[in-house]
Amino acid sequence: MRVLGIETSCDETGVAIYDSSNGYGQDGLLGHALYSQVELHAEYGGVVPELASRDHIQKTIPLVRELMKNSAVEASSLEGVAYTAGPGLAGALLVGASIGRALAWGWGIPAVAIHHMEGHLLAPLIDDPDIEFPFVALLVSGGHTQLIYVKAVGDYTLLGESLDDAAGEAFDKTAKLMGLAYPGGPNIALLAEQGCLGAYQFPRPMVDRPGLDFSFSGLKTFAVNTFNSSTKDIQVKANIALAFEEAVIDTLAIKCKRALLQVDCIRLVVAGGVSANKKLRLRLHELVHRLGCKVHFPRPEFCTDNGAMIAYAGSLRLTAGEAQDLGFKVNPRWPLASLTVPARART
Ligand code: KG4
Ligand code: ZN
Repeated sequence: MRVLGIETSCDETGVAIYDSSNGYGQDGLLGHALYSQVELHAEYGGVVPELASRDHIQKTIPLVRELMKNSAVEASSLEGVAYTAGPGLAGALLVGASIGRALAWGWGIPAVAIHHMEGHLLAPLIDDPDIEFPFVALLVSGGHTQLIYVKAVGDYTLLGESLDDAAGEAFDKTAKLMGLAYPGGPNIALLAEQGCLGAYQFPRPMVDRPGLDFSFSGLKTFAVNTFNSSTKDIQVKANIALAFEEAVIDTLAIKCKRALLQVDCIRLVVAGGVSANKKLRLRLHELVHRLGCKVHFPRPEFCTDNGAMIAYAGSLRLTAGEAQDLGFKVNPRWPLASLTVPARART
């Protein structure tokens, strides 16, 4: 099934065309395009929701046109449209949902609402369709830090999540308070490359308590207090960035190990913006090697928000017979565990 995917949940306009009749895997991806609003929000140090919505309104349709032209895909060959319906910023979601629903109606094809985190979770399968279920998924983005036990597409059990800031959010807020540009994650990672390991020792929050929940806001405060009482020169800043990054990565790795052992699973999938972090990838590779398990990540460009993951998830759900009626709604707070296995896939 040939599906146009539209992602507008936050500050990236992402579009893609996925055709599962080419076989699941990267051959199915006929094209993808992304417009990032990073520069628009940079001067405010974070995403301004109203500006995000207005920009999606301007960018989505031209981006779809450009994608179809560059991928040589005619509208008449499309068989479905998938759009992100949540979680995310209400206004931003409404732009993609209304455009996606309207295009599908105009073209006389079905539309399906996709959960943004399901998109992230399935993104590694675009390049590696043979990843077997069940697996443990670590979803680490700007809005979520969750460990999920995935038995099948749509069968998601929440094992643990952040009680306060998401990992990406902690990166972004810490970076902002240290005077680094938005988005903070990649900028802290870059600065940390100049840091001296061991110059500072930061806590690993909640690792001495049982369970799989996270808490990153205290770590963020610890980093900022350390920064404020330091000389704030560039080397000290790099040392703090490294100590912070190490603490987040260590904490995530400790909880991944605990989750794999708890559900007795040998496969780990890591997705969401923070999964682009090179040191996190390295640390988790070392971890699964020691445990005799496997770990899978999306290609770096599909770690952060993108249209490909929505087109891919859409092709799976539409193929299984799922579709929305003509009305559409968005769900800014949509629990992943409330999703179900698409009806036809259950048999
Ligand atoms: O998945 P994503 O693009 O958007 C959400 O759904 O939230 O994730 C964005 C988050 C931001 O918080 C950003 O700082 C973080 O991912 N991020 C990183 C890296 N690249 C992006 N965090 C740490 N290291 C990175 N290399
Ligand atoms: Zn995301």
